[in-house]
Amino acid sequence: MKLWGGRFTKETDQLVHNFNASIGFDQKFFRQDIDGSIAHVTMLAAQGILTNEERDTIVTELKRIRSEIESGALNITSEYEDIHSFVESKLIERTGETGKKLHTGRSRNDQVALDMKLYVRDEIRECDALLYDLLKVLYRIMQDHLDTYMPGFTHLQKAQPLTLAHHAGAYFEMFKRDRSRLADIYKRMNTCPLGAGALAGTTYPLDREMTARLLGFDGPTLNSMDSVSDRDYIIEFLSALSTIMMHLSRFSEELIIWNTNEYQFIELDDAYSTGSSIMPQKKNPDIAELIRGKTGRVYGALMSILTTMKALPLAYNKDMQEDKELTFDAIDTTKGCIRLFTGMIDTMKVNRAAMNASARHGFTNATDAADYLVKHGVPFRDAHGIIGQLVLYGIEHHKALDDFTLEEFKAASPVFEEDIYDAISMETCVNTRNTIGAPGREAMEKVLHICREYLETSDPS
Ligand code: ARG
Repeated sequence: MKLWGGRFTKETDQLVHNFNASIGFDQKFFRQDIDGSIAHVTMLAAQGILTNEERDTIVTELKRIRSEIESGALNITSEYEDIHSFVESKLIERTGETGKKLHTGRSRNDQVALDMKLYVRDEIRECDALLYDLLKVLYRIMQDHLDTYMPGFTHLQKAQPLTLAHHAGAYFEMFKRDRSRLADIYKRMNTCPLGAGALAGTTYPLDREMTARLLGFDGPTLNSMDSVSDRDYIIEFLSALSTIMMHLSRFSEELIIWNTNEYQFIELDDAYSTGSSIMPQKKNPDIAELIRGKTGRVYGALMSILTTMKALPLAYNKDMQEDKELTFDAIDTTKGCIRLFTGMIDTMKVNRAAMNASARHGFTNATDAADYLVKHGVPFRDAHGIIGQLVLYGIEHHKALDDFTLEEFKAASPVFEEDIYDAISMETCVNTRNTIGAPGREAMEKVLHICREYLETSDPS
C-alpha cells in the first residue's frame, strides 16, 4: 500500500497512519492528479525517458481509473496514504512494470504542489462565473429601480435620499473588484511546479516548458525550492474569498434589517426564508444570517494557513498538508454562499412605497432645504440653523419637511416660497445629483451603460 516501504523494518502504527494520511480529503483533486500524471508521462516519452508504448499504456489506464472513480466503480479507500499513492498503486496493479515508471523524475512534493495549483485554478474560474451571475442580477435590480427612492444612511441614521439602483450599484462595484482580484491571482499563480522534484530538481532531462504548456500554465516555476513550498497563491485566494464573504455579509446584514417588520423595505421570498417551531407568525431570514455567519469560517481558513506557513523553513514540510481541508471548506462555503445570495436577491420583493416613505420621513432632504435657502442668499451656516429648527419642529409634530404648510416654512424664514416643495421632493433631491458616481438618473444611466459593457465583455462562458 505504501510508496516508501523499502527503508523501513516495521509497519506504521495504525494511529500514525491515520494521523499522517490525507486521502480523506485530497481525493477531492483526483482529476487534477491524473491530469498532472498524464502530462508528466507525455513529456517523459517526448524526452525518450519512457517509450511511446509505455506512455500509451499508462495514459490509457490513468484515464480508465479516472472514469471509474467518477462512475463509482472504483472506490477510494483509506488504507492508502494519499490520492497520489492511490492512483499510482492502482496503475501498478493494472499495468505492472510499466506503471512503476510513472513516478520517474517526480516527487510527491512537486506533484501535490501541482495538484493544488490545478485545483485552485479551476475553483478561481468557478468563483468568477458565480460572481458574474450575481453581477447580472445586481444589474437587473439597478435597471428596475432607478427611481425607487430610499434613504441613504451614515451611522445607520438616515442621511440623504438615493435610490435602490444606486445602493445595488455600490455592490456591483465591490463584486466587480472581487472578480478582478481573482483574475490577478490567477495570472500570478499560473506557473507550473512540476519538475521541481522533492526540492532540487532532477537529474533526468525533463522538459518543464512542455509539461507547463500541456497543463495550460504560462511557463515553469523558476526555483525548485520555492516551487514545492509556495502556498502564497492559496493565501491570496483565501484572502479574496474572505473579501467576497465580507461583501456578501454586509449586504446580508442590510437585507436582514430591510426585511424587518420595522423597515419593510423588502420581503425575502418564502423559498429563502424559514419558520419558527414555536412562533407561528415568524418568517426568518436564516439564509442571510447564515451567509453573514459563515464569513467567520472563511476568515478562519485564511488565518489558519497564514499561521501554518509562518516560520516554516524551506522547502517542503508536512505542515503544508494542512493547507487542504481548510481551503476546500472555504471554497465550498463561499461558492455556496454566492449561489444562495444570488437567488435570494433575485427573488426578493421590493417595497417601493415603504422605501420612499422612509426617505421622506427621515428628513433626508434637509441638506437640500438648506441649499434652497443658500440659493436665495442665506449664508450656509444660517441656513443650517434654520433647517435644524424646522427639523426639530417636524419631529415634535410628526411631520416630514414636505408636509409643512408654506406658513410653517415662512415662520422659520421669510425667504421660503411655493417652489420649496419642488426643491425638496425626492425626485429633485436625487436627480440633481449628477456628478459621475452620484445617484441622479443621468449619472446612473451613464454608469449603467458602463456596467452593461463590462458584463458584455467579461462573460466567462
Ligand atoms: N499529502 C501530502 C501533502 O498534502 C503530499 C506530499 C507528501 N510529501 C511528502 N514528502 N511526504 O502535503
